[in-house]
Amino acid sequence: MSTNSLITLAGYSKEKLLYLIEMAREFELHPNRKILEGRVVATLFFEPSTRTRLSFETAANRLGARVIGFADPKITSGTKGEILKDTIMMVSNYADVIVMRHYLEGAALYAGEVSPVPIMNAGDGANQHPSQTMLDLYTIHQSQGTLENLNIYLVGDLKYGRTVHSLLAAMRHFDPCFHFIAPDELAMPEPYKKYCDENGIRYIEHKDFNEETIAGADILYMTRVQKERFSDLMEYERVKDAYLLKKDMLCKARPNMKILHPLPRVNEIEYSIDDTQYAYYFQQARNGLYARQALICDTLGITLDEIKNDKTIIR
Ligand code: CP
Repeated sequence: MSTNSLITLAGYSKEKLLYLIEMAREFELHPNRKILEGRVVATLFFEPSTRTRLSFETAANRLGARVIGFADPKITSGTKGEILKDTIMMVSNYADVIVMRHYLEGAALYAGEVSPVPIMNAGDGANQHPSQTMLDLYTIHQSQGTLENLNIYLVGDLKYGRTVHSLLAAMRHFDPCFHFIAPDELAMPEPYKKYCDENGIRYIEHKDFNEETIAGADILYMTRVQKERFSDLMEYERVKDAYLLKKDMLCKARPNMKILHPLPRVNEIEYSIDDTQYAYYFQQARNGLYARQALICDTLGITLDEIKNDKTIIR
């Protein structure tokens, strides 16, 4: 078992999160280096992905590492009955770190327990998505100049949305006030509300979604209703278009307000919003590269000092 796996950010201290943000900033300044030359990063994606996979792979490639992985889990020996443990044991023979996305909650924790090399959780079911949270923290800090005392509105699928579950835990150090906006079927689950109560995280629940409700937001974090998580597709049909952010709903928005979305979006944000000062989701996705460069280096034991003194920068 490797001790350096990234399964969740829930246990990370405030200092550690700020340290990783500083590291990501170094990579935003100089993303092209050879600091990982000679290393191999494996990407095992058992669920679809565009951003997470490509930004992890770009992060590794831009730092000089080589990347291995499969295009589709259907073409792996998992289809012949190989269990996850055996797959992890095999890939750990080839790679220095394994980035894994899996449809089962807890799969990353399990992989981390059996793997001799670090596991990086790229999303496990509806549970956690720590690298997304790292890029979200980086983006919030970049757009607001601070992480402290912000009004963060989480909108849409708060039941299955692993990105919002991860964000709650990571933000606990920064005295946020969360606003949960979701239909009953997709409300924030009780265990997460209990977590907020136990950790002194303020939250307010709303059913309405209009210009008045969101007027106090610093961050408006939209999420997709995830069809793939529903066992009852009739229920999905009932709620899928529950909350669409329309341009005219921004008329009372704070000047500093930014709209984030982990993407992909389906029917949550009108396309006309893309050109407004509030849209920040494409920059957010870009930040995934820098945040994941920082996380890969940290997982491999490379320090901020080493990165600041790095002589392998390619200009
Ligand atoms: N945000 C996110 O996880 O996107 P992908 O599913 O495309 O990786």
